[in-house]
Amino acid sequence: MRTDPLFQTVTSEVRSTRTVSLSFNDQALEVPAGISVAAALLMSGINRFRATPVSESPRAPYCMMGVCFECLVDIDGVPNRQSCLIEVAEGMRIRSQEGARDLIIQADNVQTAIEQTVEVQS
Ligand code: FES
Repeated sequence: MRTDPLFQTVTSEVRSTRTVSLSFNDQALEVPAGISVAAALLMSGINRFRATPVSESPRAPYCMMGVCFECLVDIDGVPNRQSCLIEVAEGMRIRSQEGARDLIIQADNVQTAIEQTVEVQS
């Protein structure tokens, strides 16, 4: 008796050929559309996303599902964004987080951050 496999291989996925342009620490990157910021940075060879506030130890994504908070970056001027939960977008300006963040951010950036988060959760 033959049964269908429970899992499919990654190679069977149909990936988008569309790309988006963004930057990380002023370095221009071209990445596939529809993937998370963390995945895009990792596949571009970036493995240092932030430095811890106390010891300044380098950090990179660990869980890739919103649990560990090791993937925090600044996106379009909004700090402490979980890059594993945010989809890449054309023109995104991403910066590594170095040490502690300021608590004051611009109001229009907060609105953008809320919209991006709502899109991911719906
Ligand atoms: S990689 Fe763990 S929260 Fe983003």
